[in-house]
Amino acid sequence: MVRYNMAPNRNLDSRWVRRYRSFFIVGSVILGIQVFLAYRFFPIDAEEDESSQEHRDLSGKGLNVEVVNEDLNGGVSSRRFRDNYLVVDDEDSPSNSNPANGLYIRNKVPPDKSDTILRNNGGAIETVPKFNSKDGTSGLNRTSLRLEELDFVPVCDIIAKEAISAIHRAKTQLCKQKLSNITCLIQQRQLYPHHLPNSCPSAGFTAGKSLGCYQDEKTFRLLSGYYANLKTTNSPKHCINMCLQSGFPYAGVQYSTECFCGNEEPPSASRRPDSSCNMKCPTDPREACGGYFTINVYETGIAKFTPQVPREVAESGESPVRIAFLLTLNGRALRQVRRLIKVLFHRDHFFYIHVDARQDYLYRELLVLERSLPNVRLARHRYATIWGGASLLQMLLSSMNELLELDWEWDFVINLSESDFPVKTNNQLVDFLTANKGRNFVKSHGREVQRFIQKQGLDKTFVECDTHMWRTGDRHLPWGIQLDGGSDWVALSRPFVVYVATAVQDALVQKDPLVEGLNTVFKHTLLPAESFFHTALRNSHFCDTYVDNNLRVTNWKRRLGCKCQYKHVVDWCGCSPNDFKSEDWPRLEGTENRQLFFARKFEPSINQGIIDQVEEWLYGPYPSTTANLQSYWQSVYHYADLSPPPDDSLVTLATSLTRISTKSFVLKGGNGCLIHPGNVLEVTSYHNNDNYKGTLVLYEAVLNGGTETVSFETRVMPQHYMTILKDTGPGGRLKSLLVSSDYDQKEQLSRNFLRNLGPFSEPILVYQLGANPQPSTYNVTFLWVDPAGQLVEVSEVHMEDGQVTNYVKPLLREPLLPGVWTVKMVYEAAVVAFSQFLVTPLQFVSGANVSQQQAGFLHSGPGQPYPIHDATDWNKLLDNTVDRSALQRKALVNARRFGLDLKDWIDSLNLKFYKVLNTCVTSSSVHAVSKCGKLHLELCENTTWSSLAPDPKSQIGLINLTTGRLNRQA
Ligand SMILES: *[C@@H]1O[C@H](CO)[C@@H](O)[C@H](O)[C@H]1NC(C)=O
Ligand SMILES: *[C@@H]1O[C@H](CO)[C@@H](O)[C@H](O)[C@H]1NC(C)=O
Ligand SMILES: *[C@@H]1O[C@H](CO)[C@@H](O)[C@H](O)[C@H]1NC(C)=O
Repeated sequence: MVRYNMAPNRNLDSRWVRRYRSFFIVGSVILGIQVFLAYRFFPIDAEEDESSQEHRDLSGKGLNVEVVNEDLNGGVSSRRFRDNYLVVDDEDSPSNSNPANGLYIRNKVPPDKSDTILRNNGGAIETVPKFNSKDGTSGLNRTSLRLEELDFVPVCDIIAKEAISAIHRAKTQLCKQKLSNITCLIQQRQLYPHHLPNSCPSAGFTAGKSLGCYQDEKTFRLLSGYYANLKTTNSPKHCINMCLQSGFPYAGVQYSTECFCGNEEPPSASRRPDSSCNMKCPTDPREACGGYFTINVYETGIAKFTPQVPREVAESGESPVRIAFLLTLNGRALRQVRRLIKVLFHRDHFFYIHVDARQDYLYRELLVLERSLPNVRLARHRYATIWGGASLLQMLLSSMNELLELDWEWDFVINLSESDFPVKTNNQLVDFLTANKGRNFVKSHGREVQRFIQKQGLDKTFVECDTHMWRTGDRHLPWGIQLDGGSDWVALSRPFVVYVATAVQDALVQKDPLVEGLNTVFKHTLLPAESFFHTALRNSHFCDTYVDNNLRVTNWKRRLGCKCQYKHVVDWCGCSPNDFKSEDWPRLEGTENRQLFFARKFEPSINQGIIDQVEEWLYGPYPSTTANLQSYWQSVYHYADLSPPPDDSLVTLATSLTRISTKSFVLKGGNGCLIHPGNVLEVTSYHNNDNYKGTLVLYEAVLNGGTETVSFETRVMPQHYMTILKDTGPGGRLKSLLVSSDYDQKEQLSRNFLRNLGPFSEPILVYQLGANPQPSTYNVTFLWVDPAGQLVEVSEVHMEDGQVTNYVKPLLREPLLPGVWTVKMVYEAAVVAFSQFLVTPLQFVSGANVSQQQAGFLHSGPGQPYPIHDATDWNKLLDNTVDRSALQRKALVNARRFGLDLKDWIDSLNLKFYKVLNTCVTSSSVHAVSKCGKLHLELCENTTWSSLAPDPKSQIGLINLTTGRLNRQA
């Protein structure tokens, strides 16, 4: 392929114009072909793919001139490379899932650019807080640190703008100190290694060997792999380093400032006398940097890298490999984790489980599994990892090191999360890995390396503290090694794990300089696990075990998954793959004849049907008599959890629901028995056939004021109040208009199924429109009216055609005034629909009953009035029959309620917004309850909906002695 490029303006003499005019034409043709190819060869969802977007951008700009501008101290000022490769961003490329998992970067958002960006998310308007200073002063101009905010004196004078911004934004002094310590180490060039050894055999290539001066051609470049214009830094050495880093065996300097990299040795016919390369390098006038269409060519010292092609089948007689599954878990999807272990289980495999340090529930429940199965172990040393965080790699290496110390004889380690599921059987996986014993499976990014480095932020220092990845400035990656990366989901051989994990963890083992150096670099790297293993593999003597396939298929839908949704935890924008849904089945089925063994992501609370389908595909259907296959339960709250801290509004609501439920059945059937509801034990979300079917509250109760404790479970459903007043415009198409919290932009739904909101919740409005045969867009206004009848917020929304579901996030002051709120939808100066929602008063604060004083503060609304500008115009649209001053007086009275009075208020509100559907009694309580006479309650274990109902697909039973697997039906 041919590269075209254009010199900076000052070089535009007439020769240049002629030279580049032909380039321009050739380049345009190539670009056209590329755009065409890009559209032809992208997968079905190509239009949503970010690389096709890039191609579109390019075509929009006409011919792209890419000039690389590196200044001497390494700060890269403007770097936009245009590689000549067709960027094939395969669907299996870099992936990520739970906050602990890696990702794929789309574009960086520099933290210093603006205060707030009013983003129109195609209808959903939200205000994006800028990353830096929250105090309203501009971080942009700030060039010195406000020392008065620090309780320590930095060990050096911190000048880097990004570091200053990070130190100001960090919450704790400890974190500020860590940021400043690391920044100083970097300023003094003491942190990062400058050079790392490369022990991948290089087949006779010698680093820096000069091959001489060659004639280059404008239409057919001798070195066509990569091009950069290094205006001030070009030299043979720099160019060689950069080409080596990008994985090329040849480097060449030309026309003083140009650096070319390539895979092919230039033909000897193009050789010219050294005197033809007669231009000086910008860094050192004594050195030659090519000439006009002449190029000094060098070897970088590495051979062209070729990944291994995996073998299909093992030779007979090879003993089957044993696999250690390293499960890195987060969240509360316990039943899906059990299902995953069940489907992967074999007595010859091992399960090493790392549960995020903050997830008490999952950890506690999986300890039970550890006790009942011989080859399951939970990590005791637990990390709290964040999305993209450096701690993720530390966690993986620490877990791998522990895996090596157990006396388990495994051959491969495969990392998985709760949202992975196999798409091949255990036997197929074992057969394949047996044929490839000793190989290492990683997925590479498949694009130009320098571009990958920028997109991934590898050329920036990140520091993790205060559960945030702070960007503190540009850095230099060590020379001497090739950089590689991609997905953080890998399958690694035991010898390689020994190499990377023990060298780091074990002080007694002689440290490998490559691994040690990489470990320093990746301690301060965003998404470290997406590059660490790849880079260690390529540059060590394990390089001939590299397979460019991580055995997974990932459900990328970048239009949905790249919303910069992690900006609260990282100074960067990243993407996440979507959950597979039933309609994605063809894609999964299509993996049958490919070397793909796992897929991600799956989430049964979003779609369990697809998981059922995959499991049936692999292992056949469950017997038709199997109970509750279409049901899924996920814990929301458990009384024993300390972390994450329970949500007071949820506990308040659940406790109120136990009172409401108990009253309902006592009135219906009870005779002469006093049942007093006690503590809430658990709250569980219940789904059937991929629909949310209510929330379950398991609770204790005391009989007749006595000593006997019984337990019940009740199922409730939030009520949706929406009234359509006019069927004009969007009013006629409105399917739902409801207020909740925790909107997931990627899956386009609120994860707060119960829709409980308290004074400190962040409400969001979710609306859904029916499909419309006629394309139309609407400008709509939402008016937010608080329980005192006051207009507190106006949200303007542009509803785009084709967007049927979207959300609006209002800016409301905390604490929200408790009671019934109204949100009105205004279209063409008339209210077309409205919806009501509840902000529940709190009975508990940090788990304890509120005092009168606390209630007075929590339930009075925000101290300051809401600033609504043209409120009079909007107020005309509000209901004029409402006596606002009466409502305000009532709100004041309500704020004084506490104790029983407060509970009555809470219950009366919840009675309107929640409906009790059923209540059951647990089998251990049925005897005691029967003494009260007939209550007509079902036994929980016999219902289809209770969290105690049978759930065979997630129940772990006995190991089948013939197959070595767990019995499907416990
Ligand atoms: C920051 O700089 C901009 C323009 O460079 C200027 O308008 C603004 O007033 C400055 N802000 C502060 C706080 O100095
Ligand atoms: C920062 O460096 C100082 C001086 O070397 C040291 O005392 C302190 O413990 C360090 N703090 C952190 C958080 O690393
Ligand atoms: C909606 O508002 C925008 C600007 O706020 C305007 O450009 C557009 O024409 C309006 N659309 C309609 C359908 O009124």
